[in-house]
Amino acid sequence: MSVTVLVGSQWGDEGKGKIVDLLSDRYEVVVRYQGGANAGHTIVVGDKKYIFHLIPSGILHEGVTCVIGNGVVIDPKALLDEIKMIEDQNIDITGRLLISQNAHLIMPYHKLLDSLSEKGENKIGTTGRGIGPCYVDKYARKGIRIVDLLDHEGLEEKIRTNLKEKNDILKKIHEHAELNVDEIIQEYLAFDEAIDKYITDVPTYLHEAINGNKSILMEGAQGALLDVDFGTYPYVTSSSPTSGGACTGTGIPPTKIDKVLGIVKAYTTRVGLGPFPTELEDEDGQKLRKVGAEFGATTGRPRRCGWFDAALVRYSAMVNGIQEAAITKLDVLSEFDTIKVCVDYEINGKKLKSFPNEISKLAAVRPVYETLPGWNTDITEIRDYQELPTETKNYLDFISKQCGFKNTFISVGPKRAQTIEI
Ligand code: GDP
Ligand code: IMO
Ligand code: MG
Repeated sequence: MSVTVLVGSQWGDEGKGKIVDLLSDRYEVVVRYQGGANAGHTIVVGDKKYIFHLIPSGILHEGVTCVIGNGVVIDPKALLDEIKMIEDQNIDITGRLLISQNAHLIMPYHKLLDSLSEKGENKIGTTGRGIGPCYVDKYARKGIRIVDLLDHEGLEEKIRTNLKEKNDILKKIHEHAELNVDEIIQEYLAFDEAIDKYITDVPTYLHEAINGNKSILMEGAQGALLDVDFGTYPYVTSSSPTSGGACTGTGIPPTKIDKVLGIVKAYTTRVGLGPFPTELEDEDGQKLRKVGAEFGATTGRPRRCGWFDAALVRYSAMVNGIQEAAITKLDVLSEFDTIKVCVDYEINGKKLKSFPNEISKLAAVRPVYETLPGWNTDITEIRDYQELPTETKNYLDFISKQCGFKNTFISVGPKRAQTIEI
C-alpha cells in the first residue's frame, strides 16, 4: 500500500498527464483533488492522443478506479462530454469512475462571470472555464454541490436563489442580459440522471481502499506557482494544487501520505498573465515553443517559454515537500548548443534569500544564470540512463542538486515508452 501525491512544480503543463498514465499500472486508484476543466492533461498512446480535463489520467488503465475528489469543481457538461469521448474509444468505465458528493458544480453564471471579469481591469488570463467564480461561491457558502443533484426541489430552490443574485450582478455591474432561470433548472435537473451513478462518499471509499492495502495516486492539476496561497498571486488559479490540497481535496489525511512526486519540466512555461523571470521573448523562446509544441491543451493559447528556473522550483519543492522528481520534456533541449539555468534572483545586485511573495518584487528580479553545455543529440530513443550523453546527465544532476530532490523519471518524448526510470 502506498499513497503518492503527484504535483506540478511550475506553472502547469509540466507533463503530469503523461506521468500519471505511466504510473497508473502501479496504482489501483487515481484521484484528482482540485481544479476543474481548466486543466488539460495530455496522454499519447501509440498514435492516439487523449486530453483529459476532469477525469483522472489513470482512466485508460482498465484496473484503475478513478476518483474526482471534493476539491474539484465540476462542469457537468464538460464531464459528460469527456465520458462520451472515453466511451467512444471503447474504454469501459463502468464502476471505475467515482465522484465526490461534496464536489461543487460549475454553473453557467460562473463561466459567464469569469469571461466578463476578464474584460475588466483585473484580467488574469484565465481559461474561461468558470473556475474562480465557482470557488468564490464555495467559500461564500452559496455553492451548489454534486449531492444537490439528488434533491430536485432543493436544487431548484438553490438555483433560483443564486440566479437572483447573479442576475443582479450581471445587470447592474456588467450591463449584461439576465440569464433564464428555468432553462438552467431544466438543464441541471437533467444532469442528475446521467451523473447519479457516479456519486460516492469518497472519503469513506478512500479510507476503505487504504485499509484494504490499495495503492493510491493523487493527481494534481495546474502547478505550485498557480496555487492560490503559494503561487504568484493574483496571477494564479483559485484552488490548491500544492500537495496540501491533496488532503483537503479528497479526505485522505496527511498521516497516510507516503511520497510527493514533483513533475518538473526541463525548462519553464506559463499560460496567462503574470511575471515570469526567465521568460525568453527572443528566438530561443520561439524555439522552445516550436520544438516543445507549447500550446495550451485546454485553450490552444501559445505558452510563454523560458529557461529552467531553479530559484522557483526550489521554492516549489519546499512548499510541496517534493522528494522525487520526474524531469519532463528533456528532449526539447536537445537542439540548443548551450542551456541556461537560473540559480538565483537578484534585485539591485543583491541575491534574494527566498522566493518573493510580492508580485512587484518578482517582476523586478534579475535572474542569475549559469550556462551549461548542450548535448546536440537526439535522446528520444534512449531508455537507459547510462546511455544519455554526459552533458545531459550533468544537466539533470545540476537540476537535482539545485532543487534538492532526487530525479527518478526522465521523460524524453510524449509517448508512454519514451521514459527512463532511474
Ligand atoms: P499537464 O497539464 O501537466 O498534463 O501537461 P500538458 O499535457 O498540458 O502539456 C504537456 C505536453 O507535453 C503534452 O503535449 C504532452 O504530450 C507533451 N509531453 C509530455 N512529456 C513530454 C516529453 O518528455 N517530451 C516531449 N517532447 N513532449 C512531452
Ligand atoms: P494543467 O492542469 C497551465 C492558468 C490560466 C491563468 C490562471 C487562472 O493543464 O497544468 P483559471 O481558468 O484557472 O481561473 O486561470 O491559471 N491555468 C493553467 N495554466 N496549465 C493549467 O492546467 C492551467 N489551469 C489554469 O492560464 O493564468
Ligand atoms: Mg496542461
